[in-house]
Amino acid sequence: MQAFGTYEAFEAEGGRILSCYRPPVPAMPVIDEVWEVLERARHAVESLDRALMGFPVSGVVGKLFARLDAVHSSGAEGATTTFTDLLEFQTSLQRARDPEDAQAVAGSADAFDELQGKMPDPREAVLSIHRRLFEAVRDPYAAAQAGQWKTHVNATLDAETATGFFYYTAPATLQDSLAEWKDFTMAEGGPELVRQALSHWMFEHIHPVGDGNGRVGRLLVPLVVHAKGATTTACCFLGEAVHGNKEIYIEALKRARRTGDIAAWARVFLSLVEQTAARNLMRLERLGQLHDRWRQATKSLRGHSAVHDLVPWVLTKPAFTVRDALAGLGKGTYTSLNTAVRSLAELGIVEAAGAAGRDRLFIAPEVIDLFESPGLRHGPTASSGMRPSRG
Ligand SMILES: Nc1ncnc2c1ncn2[C@@H]1O[C@H](COP(=O)(O)OP(=O)(O)OP(=O)(O)O)[C@@H](O)[C@H]1O
Ligand SMILES: [Mg+2]
Repeated sequence: MQAFGTYEAFEAEGGRILSCYRPPVPAMPVIDEVWEVLERARHAVESLDRALMGFPVSGVVGKLFARLDAVHSSGAEGATTTFTDLLEFQTSLQRARDPEDAQAVAGSADAFDELQGKMPDPREAVLSIHRRLFEAVRDPYAAAQAGQWKTHVNATLDAETATGFFYYTAPATLQDSLAEWKDFTMAEGGPELVRQALSHWMFEHIHPVGDGNGRVGRLLVPLVVHAKGATTTACCFLGEAVHGNKEIYIEALKRARRTGDIAAWARVFLSLVEQTAARNLMRLERLGQLHDRWRQATKSLRGHSAVHDLVPWVLTKPAFTVRDALAGLGKGTYTSLNTAVRSLAELGIVEAAGAAGRDRLFIAPEVIDLFESPGLRHGPTASSGMRPSRG
């Protein structure tokens, strides 16, 4: 097989001529080269999608699964914010061990909320996600680039090139390249998951923004697959499996460029999708069991309507303050909700994790344990008193 794509000379600052890669629009692979793993990925994603559709509490994709994906997809790139950290950061307390890191992870989750269900032009989505990721960073240069296409050449180390660097698509031809990428991404024909595998490969080789290309590209996958109607919910994530298999993922991206064997890349991508969906389906099933158990446990508390409103709410917001509950439910009073939270605490459904006071943090450890990686549930932030992992 021959390498594919082209290299374009680009004059960088200082007159240096760089050889920048421009990916081809890849041909869809022959179906039998991907069929086996495609069937598995499709089965896993469809099972998850169906289970999400039938889940008795709405909003679980955005509130839990997209947040988990943001944690993993950012974790694959070195972020240290855990699921618990993100949840705590997104309470009224807005507290985190590393607020800047947590803010970027939260940005990815917020971008999902913003874009879920709408995908006018994936190029606009790229810039929206990028803006969310970088608008709050402390580095003024990076913050000024938030939501902008790159204006400089970006590169990655590559021992196999003469210069030791691999240069992504040149800024001069970026818009042409992106137009090809957009047309390919939104086109119909062939299995959608395979199309998005190839689209992700193209996107990463164009590398259209200065930084954040990995996180932006991975978040586009569930959004585009959903927007094109291949799934009913935006659940086709891959961040968790990428986090666990970063080297395989990067090597496969590179190898397809060198060999032109795009089917091999598609198989790796499909496996990552399958793994992530299978784990999420397991979590969702357990979440459903928890919900049943909580409803049983609170059944006898007749008259306490706030308790019954809280049960499904806490299921998707397993770290919260009473103030959050008041805002989230949009009814009741601080006092009635405070009493209801205490009832849930007596039943062991929630527990106080922060210092006593009006803005006390509560958590539902059984939900958090389903989403937190074993051993990663951090100890307390400065004053929350959150317990370390039991796993
Ligand atoms: N040699 C390569 N060829 C093509 N794509 C690559 C290569 N190496 C890495 N990538 C892609 O680029 C991403 C990293 O790019 P970028 O830094 O812009 O994104 P990021 O989300 O900020 O990640 P990081 O935090 O690691 O910098 C990887 O996650 C992967 O998708
Ligand atoms: Mg980066």
